[in-house]
Amino acid sequence: MSLFRTKKIANHIEADTGLKRSLNAFDLTMLGIGAIIGAGIFVLTGVAAATHAGPAIVLSYVLAGTACACAALSYAELAASVGGAGSAYGYGYAGLGELPAWIIGWMLVLEYTVSVAAVSSGWSGYFNSALADLLGASLPDYLLHAPFDPAHPGSIMNLPAATIIALLGVLLATGAKSSARFNAVMVAIKLTAIAIFIGVAMFHVNPANWHPFIPPETVGPDGTREFGLGGIATGAATIFFAYLGFDAVSTAAEETKKPQRDLPIGILASLSLCTILYIIVSGLLTGIVSYKELNVAHPVAYALEQVGAHTAAGLISVGAIAGLTTVMLVMFFGQSRVLFAIARDGLLPKFFATIHPKTKTPFGSIVLSGAVMVVLGGLVPLGKLVEVANIGTLGAFVIVCIGVMVLRRTRPELNRPFRAPLYPLVPVVGVLACGYLMVNLEAFTWKAFVVWLVVGLAIFFGYSRSHSELARQPA
Ligand code: ALA
Repeated sequence: MSLFRTKKIANHIEADTGLKRSLNAFDLTMLGIGAIIGAGIFVLTGVAAATHAGPAIVLSYVLAGTACACAALSYAELAASVGGAGSAYGYGYAGLGELPAWIIGWMLVLEYTVSVAAVSSGWSGYFNSALADLLGASLPDYLLHAPFDPAHPGSIMNLPAATIIALLGVLLATGAKSSARFNAVMVAIKLTAIAIFIGVAMFHVNPANWHPFIPPETVGPDGTREFGLGGIATGAATIFFAYLGFDAVSTAAEETKKPQRDLPIGILASLSLCTILYIIVSGLLTGIVSYKELNVAHPVAYALEQVGAHTAAGLISVGAIAGLTTVMLVMFFGQSRVLFAIARDGLLPKFFATIHPKTKTPFGSIVLSGAVMVVLGGLVPLGKLVEVANIGTLGAFVIVCIGVMVLRRTRPELNRPFRAPLYPLVPVVGVLACGYLMVNLEAFTWKAFVVWLVVGLAIFFGYSRSHSELARQPA
């Protein structure tokens, strides 16, 4: 059927695609850690422990980590065998057809747009408090929140949020290698902050805080159930955000020197390291203070303050700023590459596929998607939207796992330098675990997701179908 027309897997793996090949396995691992460690661990863990899972938040991390590991192994197989800057969009395009590919790409665009814009407002809060701590001066409240934010009447815009996105756009436009260098420095700072937390927290654990490890289930006035075994799953669906980002590594395929070797390394190394750190940090966090106290905007620093480690708490805030910066940088990077790949296939206007002649970066995508994210970060109160990034990503992960199974059947001859182990267990568990986490997301998140998909389908049938490169080819 024509909606499922696919292009021959003439992959872009080693071909000259116009983008500059400057990245190696180390750069990719750093990009992965850059995108992964951020608001999830520095902010959401506390909220999820306090309101959903209690000390069993550790198990939420194991559950979400298992879903991600299966998705990551599937990603690694497709990244090494199919490749392409579009990441999962490109795998869908080559293996499943134009419409499924468009849906995956559209979900990735949701993931990256919402993540960058939402993280930018967290960055703004940390930045302003650092200004106050270090210089004794801070920006006026009306420049720190979106207009029409009901919690902050009279606001004009979130100036730091819009500014940091614009600055990162300029950095990305200058080249992948310079962005990767900046990213590596920031990653080192945030890893140091996490090491400081672990080093200090391990001497302040009070095992009584871990009891009960799984708090008994409660039912709120509106009928919502929290804690108990169900709370672990709801907690996992929330802190899943902490894992977002390893997929962005695969969008760098066309800028990687040896993609078939380095992409699987970058994806799996960054995810494994972050999973271990998350399990340790969330365990220590609920061990040094009661989970009931963690529903605050900066739980990791807060917990250290409660045990009197004020200097360490200050350093954690610096680490959080670095962490949030790299998350935005790599997600913005991923966004521009996915849009670039979609436009190259004709499904979006060609401007998105414009490459800058000097820097060899996808300039058109950086400018246009950057403008949208600046507006969102500066002018729209994002509140609950973080979970919308989760649902978009989980949806894309489900299709990637299915894609591995479909391609093993339809293209058994494809050269697979990396193969997902324990086949078909890994992709099957990936589909089930990611699907289960989707089911645990709130009704509001599902509504936003459905609206996004409807808009995406309208664009596909209104524009993409008739402009597609495949439509120009003889059947
Ligand atoms: N994983 C990223 C974060 O936690 C999106 O901020």
